[in-house]
Amino acid sequence: MTQPMALTYEERGSGPVLLLVHGFPLDSSMWIEQLKGLAKIRTVVAVNLRGHGYTKVDDNDGFSMDLFADDIAATLDEIGAEQVDLCGLSMGGYVVLAFWRKYPQRVRSLIFVDTKAEGDTDEGKAGREKTAAMVREQGMQPLYDGMIDKMLAPGAPQSVRETCKRIFLNVPPEVAAADALAMRDRPDSTGDLAGINVPVLWIHGEQDQLMPIDGARATAAKIPNATFVSIPNGGHMSPLENPEAVNKAFTEFLNTVTPKKK
Ligand code: MLT
Repeated sequence: MTQPMALTYEERGSGPVLLLVHGFPLDSSMWIEQLKGLAKIRTVVAVNLRGHGYTKVDDNDGFSMDLFADDIAATLDEIGAEQVDLCGLSMGGYVVLAFWRKYPQRVRSLIFVDTKAEGDTDEGKAGREKTAAMVREQGMQPLYDGMIDKMLAPGAPQSVRETCKRIFLNVPPEVAAADALAMRDRPDSTGDLAGINVPVLWIHGEQDQLMPIDGARATAAKIPNATFVSIPNGGHMSPLENPEAVNKAFTEFLNTVTPKKK
């Protein structure tokens, strides 16, 4: 059985830990603006999931949202953080939901960014298999070419496009394939939403084409204590596309979340 591992991460700031989980097929550098902008109020820790960024693995067996959640727990043990504010974008949000199911006592608050709670449809599952086969055969470039216009708002700056390209092409195709199959197999988390009993922030790009904002609003409304913030000029990569608005939402929310006294 594949064992949990402590992940590599980028860290800035001091105080209670805010842990950020990237989306597919990305790495910790997608959170560059949050590492810079939130360091005054939190120790911001942006992890590289297994196989991504500096977190190297010898094989890509056993990838699952649960294993990613176990890796985060191992990382928290290593950095000595008992509880965290936990945030994930898109696939990172699926990981956050798995972590919530397994380790609720370690969660101070949850932040969902441009994500969803539903599992894949049969059509979606078939698409994951096609994606896995494509990257194994042709590498990351066709995946980038097929996804980038859907990931960004139509007016997104060229610099954001370049950043996404650099991150995409840096992910080993075998890792992206394993991610795709892990997402195919993730459960539907909709039934967990009503039981979330920590403060929740849901941030969503107004122009997210991959996960349209109306569906996200309806999902967030199922969480008892959730604040929903829509991000103007933001697509699926709102933290890179409109970091000022995203960081303002994080800051206002996190200032209301009180860390447990030791
Ligand atoms: C992501 O951005 O992480 C992916 O688009 C999520 C997905 O494909 O479900």
